[in-house]
Amino acid sequence: MKQRNQEIEMKKRVLVSGGTGYIGSHTAVELQNNGFDVVIADNLSNSKIEVLDGIEGITGIRPLFDKVDLSRKNECDEFFKRYDDIEAIIHFAASKAVGESVENPLLYYRNNINSLINILEAMKEHNIPNLVFSSSCTVYGQPNKLPVTESTPRKEAESPYGNTKSICEDIIRDVVKAHPELKGIALRYFNPIGAHPSSKIGELPLGVPNNLIPFLTQTVAGIRSELSVFGNDYNTPDGSCIRDYINVVDLANAHVVAIERLLQDRNKNNYEYFNVGTGSGVSVLEIIESFERSTGEKVPHKIVGRRAGDIEQIYADTSFSNQELGWKAEKSLDETLLSAWNWQKTL
Ligand code: WQD
Repeated sequence: MKQRNQEIEMKKRVLVSGGTGYIGSHTAVELQNNGFDVVIADNLSNSKIEVLDGIEGITGIRPLFDKVDLSRKNECDEFFKRYDDIEAIIHFAASKAVGESVENPLLYYRNNINSLINILEAMKEHNIPNLVFSSSCTVYGQPNKLPVTESTPRKEAESPYGNTKSICEDIIRDVVKAHPELKGIALRYFNPIGAHPSSKIGELPLGVPNNLIPFLTQTVAGIRSELSVFGNDYNTPDGSCIRDYINVVDLANAHVVAIERLLQDRNKNNYEYFNVGTGSGVSVLEIIESFERSTGEKVPHKIVGRRAGDIEQIYADTSFSNQELGWKAEKSLDETLLSAWNWQKTL
């Protein structure tokens, strides 16, 4: 019988920095599901190495892993010497607690900006042309007009954390202008929530959670006594703040689509940015209603004063991401909140 040439499709290798973190681990799973070979670099400062077991438990493939502090140039350089066949990088590794960044801005500027600079220098040195950067809707501050499009002007960030995202976007923009062999896509996330449907990976906040969903699920699990709703006197239909809550698996898939856009040279400029949200705004009280409806659990909560630094409302116009990126959030809020609860019950 004529032997067919077995074309062994070599898997393209993607570095996921911060890949044992919440969004990074879900992205590693979706990359593997789409045939990519995943290498994770993480300093484990805000995540656990056991997350690798969760990723392997879902896909059957254990990602390569190196414990690396990418904000240290020597460690970063050593890492890239070990892996010389990386074709693209998704850069998540950063400190991301808004409140902590206000108390300790230098930690945030040093870590978040040095890590990116080291990654960009490594890309030049090792001929890695493609970068997807984890940015945030926080770069818009409190927009004057809603919903937010990619042409909505960025505003003074509400925190040093948010400011590092704006600064990093500008660094990428300027570096790819000076080095057109490089190209980058920034994904401006809205509020990532939920967990993988397998409940093998999810959000693992260390200490008291700052964010709404982990605090809510820990309250229902009895770890926290009551959820405080920070204000119901905003100029919104029910008085509580509005956000665009996006399922973390939908968000992970946006990264796969962005990587494929770069690897297939479908990008229109060598620096692009996209809003990654659902396009609908949901209030804190609506989150509580949706959670109670989808899980059958009650959420003990009380209304308290506003939290400093909170903006009143923000949600995305996702038409550009939908049309240009060819990506759309698919999972419902009820399904997403149920996944968060199922994950909490495994902890
Ligand atoms: C959501 C809403 C709170 C906790 C931040 C960062 C953003 C991204 C996500 C990192 C707000 C209310 C919260 C609680 C509450 N960070 N809330 N009780 O502040 O929109 O965004 O986290 O990737 O860049 O800015 O998220 O989950 O903290 O708050 O009422 O115990 O829930 O007031 O309206 P936020 P959040």
